Amino acid sequence: MDYKKQVAATLKQAEPELDEQILIDKIEVPKDSSKGDYAFPTFILAKQLKKAPNIIAVDLVEKIDQTGFKKIEAVGPYINFFMDPKTAGSQILAKVLQTENYGHNTDGEAGHVTIDMSSPNIAKPMSMGHLRSTVIGNSLAEISSANGYQPIKINHLGDWGTQFGKLIVAYKRWGSEEAVKADPINTLVKYYVQFHAEAEKLPELNDEGRMWFKKLEDGDEEAIQLWQWFRDESLKEFMDLYDTLDIQFDSFNGEAFYNDKMDSVVEKLEQEHKLVKSQGAQIVNLEAYGLNPAMIKRSDGATLYMTRDLAAATYRKKTYNFVKSLYVVGGEQREHFEQLKAILNEMGYAWADDIEHISFGMITVDGKKLSTRSGRIILLKDVLADSEKLALEQINEKNPDLANKERTAHEVGTGAVVFHDLMNDRTLNFDFKLEEVVRFEGDTGPYVQYANARAHSILRKADQEIDENQLEISDEQVWETEKLLGEFENVIRRAWRDREPSVVAKYALNLARTFNKYYANSKILADDAELNARLALVQAVSNTLTEALRLLGVSAPVEM
Ligand code: ARG
Repeated sequence: MDYKKQVAATLKQAEPELDEQILIDKIEVPKDSSKGDYAFPTFILAKQLKKAPNIIAVDLVEKIDQTGFKKIEAVGPYINFFMDPKTAGSQILAKVLQTENYGHNTDGEAGHVTIDMSSPNIAKPMSMGHLRSTVIGNSLAEISSANGYQPIKINHLGDWGTQFGKLIVAYKRWGSEEAVKADPINTLVKYYVQFHAEAEKLPELNDEGRMWFKKLEDGDEEAIQLWQWFRDESLKEFMDLYDTLDIQFDSFNGEAFYNDKMDSVVEKLEQEHKLVKSQGAQIVNLEAYGLNPAMIKRSDGATLYMTRDLAAATYRKKTYNFVKSLYVVGGEQREHFEQLKAILNEMGYAWADDIEHISFGMITVDGKKLSTRSGRIILLKDVLADSEKLALEQINEKNPDLANKERTAHEVGTGAVVFHDLMNDRTLNFDFKLEEVVRFEGDTGPYVQYANARAHSILRKADQEIDENQLEISDEQVWETEKLLGEFENVIRRAWRDREPSVVAKYALNLARTFNKYYANSKILADDAELNARLALVQAVSNTLTEALRLLGVSAPVEM
């Protein structure tokens, strides 16, 4: 409900020379509701009206027509507006219940947004960082779509590069087919670790690795066959995780896909005279951007991560004609994406401006950093399995007779990890303690899910059709909840503007908390004239919580 418009219109009515849009922009929502639902700072009018702000406030309030409001008062330089909760609240409930896709907008005009997300590396386990990329990317895809865009989710698999040459060498020297088949990723990681240990003693191994990668790039049959096999086996494991998270992709074109698309990038750079030879390698100078030079081709002619990203960016522009191109990748690759944008700009592509690095902070688990090299790997699938187990324990305690316990434990356990990942500003680093993440109380996903399940249980108990024409509630305690319901549209806009799923997560927590407070202090199911309206409120809360969770990629069980 856009009550800011109503407030602005009321002000303009009292003082016709005011600009309505400026008023709307300046109207505030006080944190403390005793200062009104909306507040207008009159000092912004002091120049125009040539009066002191306090005087303006008093004068305006005298002239204002107060119909539709509970109270409008001047307090110092502010005018505080109190909505009439009964009327405004019922309008909000009607809107929530009657609008298809309540909270969504069409700002994006169906423009395409490519989202580079997840993008784990073949032959390595998926890390917590990849989990973050996956869930942030997935949520931004939902949020973009709620803002009228068309998201395209691309998994830019790390399936190319010198490490595959090394892996082939390691496999040929020490590998066994059975071992890889039995436990693909762990075994391949072992070979990779072994390669690095052996190469310490025998540096020639590195040359051998480079040679095999060159063979791979040149399409050598044996190299391709091994690579394809490693890729297939790894992808199987990744797919299991995506199934667990219920996340789908529109494309799995990874780095290898661009193997035959890099020449044109290099040619274009040559044409534009941007390539410089440096110790046999080809680089682009980015001094003008305050960035380090970027290598495009090694001295042996091999391409790099950057070369493939340049090819991918141009391919995506050509294929999807994006209006925005997002890359959900950890903060440690900040320079890489700055260079990518700068090089595309040097190539003369104005759309380089539409590329955005959606950076995020690092997760530590129980205070420990994760790293594959050192062999200290925390496996994502273990984290998710442990989380489900903890969820099941709590369900057994709270609701032992629940049907479908396993399914619900899965939704709660996975949801807990995903929600936790999304509830903080994405650029923050944070530590992850599973027991805290899966709790049913506090700032957690299960807390929100539980509030929604409670709403469903109330509706089941009442077991009656809701009449959408009788939505007025006299109990002013509900106003806080109704007001929040009315905010959902702004929340969805803000989440997209800031590329921040946390905006939605924080809102969901807030709505759940506010609703729980109301629930604890009132008899929703009391059989009186306003029962219908209260049930409508419960329905509206449940709809909105469910949608907020959906935007985060978290399911909303109706019972738990
Ligand atoms: N595979 C890379 C990694 O794990 C992430 C790829 C991100 N996307 C990209 N287009 N560079 O670090």
